[in-house]
Amino acid sequence: MNSNNSNKKHIYFTGFMASGKSRVGRCLAERLNVQFIDTDTLIAENAGKSISEIFAEDGEAVFRKMEKDLIQTLAEDSTPKVISLGGGALSQECIVEAIRSSGTLIRLWASPEVLSERIARKNTRPLMAGLSDEERLAKIKTMLKERECWYSKADFSVESSNDYPEYVVAEKIIQILKFWKSYALSVETSSGERYPIFIGKNLLSHLGCLLETTGLIKTHKFLVCTDTTVAKAQSRTLDKIRRQASDCPVFKFRAGEINKTLSSLNQLYSYMLHREFGRKSCLLQFSGGVVGDMAGFGAATYQRGIPFIQLPTTLLSMVDSSVGGKVAVNHPAGKNMIGAFYQPKAVVCDLGALATLAENEIQAGIAEIVKYGVIYDLDFFAYMESHIEQIKEKNEEVLKKLIHRSCSIKAEVVGIDEKENGLRAILNYGHTFGHAIEKLSNYKTYSHGIAVSLGMRVAARAAVLLGIFSEAEEKRQNDLLNALGLPEKACFEIDVNAAWQAMGVDKKAEKNNRVYILPTCIGHVEKISNIPEDIVRNAWSVIQKEQV
Ligand SMILES: NC(=O)c1ccc[n+]([C@@H]2O[C@H](COP(=O)([O-])OP(=O)(O)OC[C@H]3O[C@@H](n4cnc5c(N)ncnc54)[C@H](O)[C@@H]3O)[C@@H](O)[C@H]2O)c1
Repeated sequence: MNSNNSNKKHIYFTGFMASGKSRVGRCLAERLNVQFIDTDTLIAENAGKSISEIFAEDGEAVFRKMEKDLIQTLAEDSTPKVISLGGGALSQECIVEAIRSSGTLIRLWASPEVLSERIARKNTRPLMAGLSDEERLAKIKTMLKERECWYSKADFSVESSNDYPEYVVAEKIIQILKFWKSYALSVETSSGERYPIFIGKNLLSHLGCLLETTGLIKTHKFLVCTDTTVAKAQSRTLDKIRRQASDCPVFKFRAGEINKTLSSLNQLYSYMLHREFGRKSCLLQFSGGVVGDMAGFGAATYQRGIPFIQLPTTLLSMVDSSVGGKVAVNHPAGKNMIGAFYQPKAVVCDLGALATLAENEIQAGIAEIVKYGVIYDLDFFAYMESHIEQIKEKNEEVLKKLIHRSCSIKAEVVGIDEKENGLRAILNYGHTFGHAIEKLSNYKTYSHGIAVSLGMRVAARAAVLLGIFSEAEEKRQNDLLNALGLPEKACFEIDVNAAWQAMGVDKKAEKNNRVYILPTCIGHVEKISNIPEDIVRNAWSVIQKEQV
């Protein structure tokens, strides 16, 4: 599901006949000074007969096996190549896997009219022989529809229309590939959606390359959503983003969790309606998790759903809220009570955005990163223990690793359980208690991540009191949180009765059944129902402010 960029040496082309795979592929190979391979040509050469002869004499199954063997061999070859794939290659899942693990898959496309005109001009395609112009166009449209499921497996698409010669298309691909170098992983949901996550520095200056690959830049009207604080702190980057998105306007929410409401969102809806944003609109969300959740829910609901792209500006939103498709606003009765599952088209984590982020907000992100170690990955937890100084200094390479592993854990979990019917609940470790802390302090005292870090301490204590987690492991978790500067105690006295009430309306509370995510060892948590009330009440003492 997630693949690392380091092995991606080849460039593969897919696309309909006459989409330019060979012309552009050859030109790109020349520019990159690597070998060009057309798999159909190579198979025919190896077999000593044409593809039509292989089909006629040996059958399609034999051809598909030859194709699979060849592509798997090429995938293992360590010398970079540009490879043009045959029409049906992506119908075989094992080929898709080999391609994904060894390279970047680009779909070349052109309109059916352009394809038809090119095919007629050459007249060398047996499948289209003897057809009138109308019949050919109709056949192309039908075949494109049928093959869309294959082409959609591409990492990105590039247009090869008649307006540009192949060297222009090749040059465009080279620019896009520079951006694509920061590709870190993809999220694949259980409902079949797939979107890339990019992690790197200065990515937002080249956002146009990404917008180009989504195909949205030609067809959609863009709007950047941000908040008042980010708009000021990141004004230059904000300007770069809007310039690359057809000089689009910017909508600013008032910053802060307290403004994560339906009424704020209604202002966005009104803004868009008054400016005639239609269904072909795309939101670029450039802010932290609050606007991310809100704009994401806006995208999910505006005119029954428009695309959106996450450009997170806080560490927390890079490692957590931008990934996985939970979007929501708060209700006076509880946090995130009005929401949806709605996936972005892409997530771009530009480390440059973190330069203006307040220290306590960095810590909020660190808290969520520690959470991933506790719930899922002991080695990752140990990595953090051994890199405390680099984390505190915000060493770029270490930060990239932390963001990458956090996103990949979240992607893995969401890939198995998108809608929180089971496994996804583990991501809520610390949240049931954390949300109560946020609510009791009226969403003002703590940012979400810091509240979650306090919640993790309470959850760990509850697990110790239940006898399922050792005190030594509890200490190990809390020592890491302490070393990273997260608060040991709440700064106000927790009213345990009010906290109990607040936890009751948390979404994680199922009917008559309070559910807790509790650790059993570092690297593993379990979903536990209805633990005795006195254990929950007592667990709060671990973060209770000391009486003076
Ligand atoms: N959808 C999910 O799966 C999910 C997961 C975790 C958290 N969340 C939600 O995320 C929200 C918290 O997100 P957050 O911690 O990013 O908070 P946030 O969006 O409120 O950002 C924190 C503060 O930092 C400011 N800020 C953001 N980026 C900045 C930058 N680059 N420079 C200067 N200031 C900047 C913001 O204006 C804000 O004041 C909560 O509402 C929480 O419920 C959602």
